[in-house]
Amino acid sequence: MASISSSPLSLMSFNVSSNFNRKHQPSKNRKPKHHKIACTSNDTNQNSPKEQEQKSSPRRNVLIGLGGLYGATTLTNNNSLAFGAPVPIPDLTKCVIPPDKSPVSINCCPPFSADIIDFKLPTFEKLRVRPAAQLVDDDYFAKYNKALELMRALPDDDPRSFTQQANIHCAYCVDGYVQLGYPNIKLSVHNCWLFLAFHRWYIYFYERILGSLINDPTFAIPFWNFDAPDGMQIPSIFTNPNSSLYDLRRDSRHQPPRIIDLNYNRYIEDDPTSEKYDPNYPPSAEQQIKDNLTLMHRQMITNSKTCLLFHGSPYRAGQLPDPGPGALESSPHNNVHIWSGDAKQTNREDMGNFYSSGRDPLFYALHGNVDRLWSIWKTLGGKRKDPTDDDWLESSFLFYDENKNLVKVKVKDGLDGKKLGYDYQKVDIPWINSKPKPASRRVQSKGKLLTPRKFVDKFPIVLDSVVSTIVKRPKKSRSSKEKEDEEEILVIDGIEFDSNIEVKFDVIVNDEDDKVIGVGNTEFAGTFVNLLHGHNHENNTKKKKNIVTCMRLGLTDLLEDLKADDDDSILVTFIPRYGGDGVKISGIKIEFAN
Ligand code: C2O
Repeated sequence: MASISSSPLSLMSFNVSSNFNRKHQPSKNRKPKHHKIACTSNDTNQNSPKEQEQKSSPRRNVLIGLGGLYGATTLTNNNSLAFGAPVPIPDLTKCVIPPDKSPVSINCCPPFSADIIDFKLPTFEKLRVRPAAQLVDDDYFAKYNKALELMRALPDDDPRSFTQQANIHCAYCVDGYVQLGYPNIKLSVHNCWLFLAFHRWYIYFYERILGSLINDPTFAIPFWNFDAPDGMQIPSIFTNPNSSLYDLRRDSRHQPPRIIDLNYNRYIEDDPTSEKYDPNYPPSAEQQIKDNLTLMHRQMITNSKTCLLFHGSPYRAGQLPDPGPGALESSPHNNVHIWSGDAKQTNREDMGNFYSSGRDPLFYALHGNVDRLWSIWKTLGGKRKDPTDDDWLESSFLFYDENKNLVKVKVKDGLDGKKLGYDYQKVDIPWINSKPKPASRRVQSKGKLLTPRKFVDKFPIVLDSVVSTIVKRPKKSRSSKEKEDEEEILVIDGIEFDSNIEVKFDVIVNDEDDKVIGVGNTEFAGTFVNLLHGHNHENNTKKKKNIVTCMRLGLTDLLEDLKADDDDSILVTFIPRYGGDGVKISGIKIEFAN
């Protein structure tokens, strides 16, 4: 694998002008903090870029043209949120009811109650064991079917009803809530470090309510084992149209035996006349499984070597939502949603949209697995440990429990599933050794991947085509000790788009023009995916609402495997998969963090 030459003949730098202004509002609750903040930099460029002729030229020419690469930017991170506090519970009195004429008109606010009790750890005789959905027997199916039938039969205004359970996701994820004490600050549990913790609590209460409806405290929800070959289809218990586990609004092409695509590029099979269409899609089942396992390996291992790479960026009281997703959230999680939702529905309901995804029972099985993968991640060693920051530990949420009590839970009470009374059935973890491989030989091009591309040395950029840029590495040739101490992280900053569009772009590092990089290749550093949020209830029109977020990808293993450890710079290529023309990226840089 060729790597980028390191002779510093010319000076090159990037105008990384972040338009981040995501500081939170003043509050008395604040206390001073000195955190290292992920993805909220306010970087300015210290060097003006040298003129380079590089539009659409092959990478090799660019390298020659530049006479080697020498990025001289010293990026600073001077927009640390110097103050912080845990994210408070939502203010139920200010839950927004969308007006009738919003594109998707629903009221997802829960029944109001002013009586909030604090969560207490449950007592139980034995652990509830959540089974792999593809392995359950008929008795289990009958039990879950019955429980869900009862839940669906509850009146809509009963906080335990299926409607209300689904609405939880809508209210917490589509700007239904503001943070208590911050009337202007929306509360959102996606694209940030609350993602895993929030969903753990969500499915915990869902499970407890189901158990209480059938009088069986040992009842445990199943997990969709999509990270293992025998779980890579929609589990059959969810596909019987006569059962309460069924949902009509799913993609009809993706029914069993179709193997899930954990890196789904949605338009790839939608419209034969579109340039995103690939007549060779889907690949063989064997190839799809292989690709899925590699993606799991990348997201769980190489892209998740630090706590924040896995959990997502810090999100504190008073801070605007969407500081940046963790590895598992972005992919496969978001892709599983999009792959499952019905492409024929206007808003990709149910699973393909945050407002509606809780209406599909499959949702709770998806999140069972996401939750299980969180527990597995903590056993993988290294620095894979939960955050110890109080602002994370003390963040809180509200849920109704099986007795219709409104309960306040804290992130810190949910760190160990066993203390909450549940565990997961042990099944194989087949992706542990599914390392991606460098694209070491020419593969036949499908003709539309990497060329033509545009080379840029200035940000912001709009992702309306394949774009490559060179990023300077502040440190190189690090010892294994240094690498263990700090992960080298590619930070893609100020990713901005309208929340009403779906977005996906892949990030490739050090590719060569003549090779097609697939998800199985080392060069495929990661993918950014935004799910539809569904509706906008600010007013009666589909008003634009911009999300500004950030993405962080682990580079240490990747560069080692590409033998690029000693290079001064890397070549980063963005491949827009959909929604690209609506995406602006304000900066890119390399950081080191533990
Ligand atoms: Cu709140 Cu699967 O998303």
